[in-house]
Amino acid sequence: MNAVHISDLRRLAKRRLPRVVFDYIDGGADGEITLRENCTAFENIRFRPRNAAASGARDLRTTVLGTTLELPFLLAPVGNSRLFYPRGECVAASAAGAAGTAYVLSTLSGCRLEEVRAATSGPAWYQLYLVGGREAATAAIRRAREAGFSALVVTIDTAVAGQRERDLRNGARELAGGKLWQMLPFLPQLLARPRWLFDFARDGALMKFPNVVVPGQGPLPYEDIGAALEHSTVTWADMGWIRDEWKGPIVIKGVLTSEDARRAVDCGAEAIVVSNHGGRQLDGVAPTLRALPEVVEAAGDRAEILLDGGIRRGSDVVKALCLGARAVLIGRAYAYGLGAAGGAGVTRAIEILRNDVVRTLRLLGCRECSALGPQYVDPSTSSG
Ligand code: FNR
Repeated sequence: MNAVHISDLRRLAKRRLPRVVFDYIDGGADGEITLRENCTAFENIRFRPRNAAASGARDLRTTVLGTTLELPFLLAPVGNSRLFYPRGECVAASAAGAAGTAYVLSTLSGCRLEEVRAATSGPAWYQLYLVGGREAATAAIRRAREAGFSALVVTIDTAVAGQRERDLRNGARELAGGKLWQMLPFLPQLLARPRWLFDFARDGALMKFPNVVVPGQGPLPYEDIGAALEHSTVTWADMGWIRDEWKGPIVIKGVLTSEDARRAVDCGAEAIVVSNHGGRQLDGVAPTLRALPEVVEAAGDRAEILLDGGIRRGSDVVKALCLGARAVLIGRAYAYGLGAAGGAGVTRAIEILRNDVVRTLRLLGCRECSALGPQYVDPSTSSG
């Protein structure tokens, strides 16, 4: 596969996927300000290398929630991955495990959580939305525990779904609705990608969420997701019963301020993800790299701090680690790979980032990821 940078995988994904699916991955909320700034925040940081330093192997390992990962990045929860490629969640999880890192499964996935757990040799975490109500969430938590997921990720930035204008223009809602006369104006974009259409049909053309089993109704259909999200806002008050149901480590995802960081650790979170949902929720919030120091300062001594948003190069991973993240999560970087070429694409995305991290460490004169710190970046470029 001729992909040198994540943008090459993005281009290949754009070629294989219908516009409505590609834009679902690629787009952000409203004016996409935060989506763009997540990336430019990394571009604006300047390194301070130590040259003429010793050569030799680099150590990329990091320990997250007591588990050693071979890489300082893990795969973020990306809903609807089964639309990108047949059995998408299983395929991505398998690639993560083969690379020695963790996979986070979204509540809004198309594959059964038990199958995803079985598909990877690495750690798997389950990301929780309260869609379908508390009973549906409780059932999913129990299933995740029994299947062997090792951490529960509670996403807190989704009071309602962000307004993703590209999805609206592309007819994502109408296509999920399944009513032919409403779908009709948007069908040409699917027909323009026959290879994807064939793969989608071969995979069962599933339009339900098998891990959101609504009591008395069965798996939640795609068309109900908007309304379900509106009625599923997670609040700090929910953390009590979630903690009672889930005895393992809890990760709170979607923290951007010192206030929420303190609140999260007070609720017993072992880790926090500084995240703005990849610019897909409230547009106009700070890029995550800029919010990171505030969260590290407020909670870094009581919880492990992770970050996601805008990671497109290994040097971005290194910059986040320099500014206090223990590890990062990648979303679109691997989703483009999945959409471009399934497991081979995800593997290539991981490989690109891994090679970048190794090279960046060498050029920085730093032997291991665990030794990275603020001394390797110019403070005048990292203070916002
Ligand atoms: C996401 N994200 C996400 N987060 C979450 O907690 N549950 C989910 O179901 C989803 N779904 C989802 C779908 C798609 C297509 C994308 C791109 C993202 C957010 C994701 O976990 C992560 O926070 C961002 O993707 C990080 O930003 P980058 O790496 O994509 O820039």
